[in-house]
Amino acid sequence: MYRTHTCGELRAEHEGQETTLAGWVHRRRDHGGLIFIDLRDRWGLTQVVFDPAISAEMHQEAHKLRNEYVVKVTGRVRRRPEGQENPKLATGDIEVEAHQLTILNPAKTPPFDINKETPVDEALRLRYRYLDLRRERMQKNLLLRHNVVRHIRNFLSDEGFIEIETPILFKTTPEGARDYLVPSRVHPGKFYALPQSPQQLKQLIMVAGYDRYFQIARCFRDEDQRGDRQPEFTQLDLEMSFVDRDDVMDLIERLMISVVENTTDLPILQKPFPRLSYQEVMDRYGRDNPDIRFGLELKDVSNLVANSEFKVFSGTVAAGGLVKGLNAKGLGGYSRKQLDELTDFVKEFGAKGLAWMTVEAGENGPVVGRSSFARFLSPDENAAIIRKLEGEPGDLLLFVADKPEIANESLGRLRLEIGDRLGLRNERVLAFCWVIDFPFLMWNEEENRWDPSHHLFTAPMDEDIPLLDTDPGKARGKQYDLVLNGYEIAGGSIRIHRRELQEKIFGLIGLDMEEARHRFGHMLEAFEYGTPPHGGIAPGIDRLVMLLAGEPNIREVIAFPKSQSAMDLMAGAPTEVSEAQLKELHIRLR
Ligand code: AMO
Ligand code: AMP
Repeated sequence: MYRTHTCGELRAEHEGQETTLAGWVHRRRDHGGLIFIDLRDRWGLTQVVFDPAISAEMHQEAHKLRNEYVVKVTGRVRRRPEGQENPKLATGDIEVEAHQLTILNPAKTPPFDINKETPVDEALRLRYRYLDLRRERMQKNLLLRHNVVRHIRNFLSDEGFIEIETPILFKTTPEGARDYLVPSRVHPGKFYALPQSPQQLKQLIMVAGYDRYFQIARCFRDEDQRGDRQPEFTQLDLEMSFVDRDDVMDLIERLMISVVENTTDLPILQKPFPRLSYQEVMDRYGRDNPDIRFGLELKDVSNLVANSEFKVFSGTVAAGGLVKGLNAKGLGGYSRKQLDELTDFVKEFGAKGLAWMTVEAGENGPVVGRSSFARFLSPDENAAIIRKLEGEPGDLLLFVADKPEIANESLGRLRLEIGDRLGLRNERVLAFCWVIDFPFLMWNEEENRWDPSHHLFTAPMDEDIPLLDTDPGKARGKQYDLVLNGYEIAGGSIRIHRRELQEKIFGLIGLDMEEARHRFGHMLEAFEYGTPPHGGIAPGIDRLVMLLAGEPNIREVIAFPKSQSAMDLMAGAPTEVSEAQLKELHIRLR
């Protein structure tokens, strides 16, 4: 046997036993005569003592040890001397008195500390990811990820789901991003597309009668990177037949609660998860992925200021826009400079300005303190907006007047910023909510046509189907998003399962029939062979684990992520390829 125990295993009860451990030198202390090392493997740390009195030769060898050397040690387990125990370490009651040391492999000095959680430049971490993965934080995250995925697999298997793999080399599966294409050598000029999700295939699995399918599926999307986006990422992809919206949502809700309870000690803020309509979350939070861990909700004051002398407000309302505000609780002491910062903040999201007002105590209740605009409003108007925002002395009220999209987006972002500043976004609390009743279509200004708000295969609400002919923008879709702490962690829908409706939707979004048949003919054809009503969802595993781990971005829970500029900094991908390879693929570079 190479080793008898792991470095996290030995306890007081092993006292006196002979043991062989193997691992990395985590830390080394030279106490004149005695040399101590903490030996590390992914199971933990064990203290090893090299005593010259036991073997001068071994002790001499131990002098050579440096951090990250790989060694094998044989010795005897003994209790640490009274008072020397380390309660922070699982193996802290014992140490191993070494009798034999083998250096299996020396190590260069690593480019950053493995044994301390000191901040390290991320590019350096990614360049030496295999060293970064040795650190405790990454080990904890990858272990959590494994536990989450294992739990999901067991839970769904117990619920009668089966895991089926679907191809990576496939045809375009649009989810709103650009495709990654793979040139075919055998078919000159033709390309595979990597799936943006297994969407079509899981629907075809339903046509095939498999009823309850899932897959831990890799998805590929060529889009701009952000902290919660990677070019390749992992979904729990899932589809069910003969279900309606509530069946899918209930199952996922039970799954999420079970995952949280079995893999973390984090509390869930609200159970059952609140179900909010798209309209409601836009009104109250300005975004469709609301963080409901805290209040500071947006309030619409349009009707209170529609007739005011302040043209910024009244003009916006007259032009069909909104005036919305939020109460930044207790920030009435903000300086001009801080207010200017907040103004710059909302401008990044398209707002033209930020109107502000502080609230002070008056004789008969709260009144305006300082303000950028209150002088243009009547006393009644000012009092009305303070009342609407529940302003109290010491508060700061902030307003944006603009088109609804911009007012919502900029104030929704500002709400998160203020929430951060006030420390209201506690990462040790999980606030799930469902968002439902989305508009079925969204108007695409640039291309002057309707886009599906979810994807091409989502069904409209039955009662809204007539609206598709009269007022398509009013129709709602049978889709649902699961949101956790302000992140969309899952999206899904009940699908269209009849050819006529699918063709009608293709028509509505301006896809002509020839194009539709070229791209999705296999789907349309399949729909004619007895397709069951079906629906599904896909939680993003990376985002879920990120939030369970309390990490700020998904790269921290992916073993080998791409950088912000979609590069693998360790292997150096993407790379140029040889002329010969290009030729084989029938490709000439410009
Ligand atoms: P959707 O496009 O909403 O739905 O994706 C589902 C979930 O996947 C995660 N996600 C991502 N995670 C990391 N990086 C990305 N680039 C990225 N893009 C998406 C999110 C998101 O909620 N086929 C449909 C699902 C269905 O209808 O069943 C789909 O892919 O957490
Ligand atoms: P002004 O009259 O331009 O000095 O504007 C008065 C206040 O209104 C300033 O605080 C501006 O930042 C703010 N403001 C200007 N445009 C808007 C807008 N669209 N929404 C909210 N506040 C605005």
